[in-house]
Amino acid sequence: MKILGIESTAHTLGISVFDSEKQEITSNAVNRYPSSKNGFIPRKLVEHHAKNYKKTLEQSLNESNTKLSKINGIAYSQGPGIGHCLHAGFVIAKSLSVLTNKPLIPVNHCIAHIEVTRFYTKLKDPIVLYVSGGNTQIITREKNHYKVLGETLDLGLGNFLDNLGRKMKLNPPDAVGVMKTAEKGKLIDLPYSIKGMNTSFTGLLTHCEKLYGTVSNKDLCYSAQETAFSMVVEATERALKHLRKKEVITCGGVACNKRLKEMLSIMSKENNCKFGSAPDEFNRDNAGMIALTGWLEYSSGFKPIEEEINQKQRTDSVKITWK
Ligand code: FE2
Repeated sequence: MKILGIESTAHTLGISVFDSEKQEITSNAVNRYPSSKNGFIPRKLVEHHAKNYKKTLEQSLNESNTKLSKINGIAYSQGPGIGHCLHAGFVIAKSLSVLTNKPLIPVNHCIAHIEVTRFYTKLKDPIVLYVSGGNTQIITREKNHYKVLGETLDLGLGNFLDNLGRKMKLNPPDAVGVMKTAEKGKLIDLPYSIKGMNTSFTGLLTHCEKLYGTVSNKDLCYSAQETAFSMVVEATERALKHLRKKEVITCGGVACNKRLKEMLSIMSKENNCKFGSAPDEFNRDNAGMIALTGWLEYSSGFKPIEEEINQKQRTDSVKITWK
């Protein structure tokens, strides 16, 4: 069976194929709208997705050495995400589903991040640290649902770093700029906001913005990362201890950050746990994870309770029918 996946929750348009016989994501075509100093304008993102759709689809089918007529189902990102962008992906998916007369399979974007990481790390029952632009959650599987044990009370960790990168006019003006500038900085004392397994980043962001220009960029970026990462690693460790789990994974765009993975790896080792993360191309937004999760749903008799899109669909609102 071959499932085509479409990702369009934000600035990434991705189209991929998952081949269940090979148990492999056989293509991962992506086109990203570049970061800008002004952030993203939803209308511009939709224009980008519409313009690049044909090219991305052809690239994906070519890489997978397949044709649209050989596809058995069309999976798409149902939410959460930016409404305009989700709609663009839904219209593409629905059109392909009508055209090929194959089922339309809605996929929760956050769950897809978790599943692709479980797929690559082969870790079955982990504590999950999901960190991206809009999301920061500590998650575990409980029977037929993913349960959110803790989360950010305001900004996602990625948005915190993106905002700081924009304020500091870094190159690129986002979390990647912060990561590059942070190398070999020194630690400055910054606000540390954690309550149980929940975190908060707005106070930290305001403090960093006020410090900008009074300390070196290197020290500010290093300290922002160290402080924010320590908060989420502490929350992850607390979840690990509470539930006596033996595995930790991290997923989402911020999981590409080497320092975060290093901190999680040290914490996991100290607790005699295994730690893993997917290859970076599957931590960033991608459609491979949508195609894979679409197949997990389809092959386990998943029945969506809603169709179209859901901008605020939560990780813990979706029933899990697969192992
Ligand atoms: Fe994502």
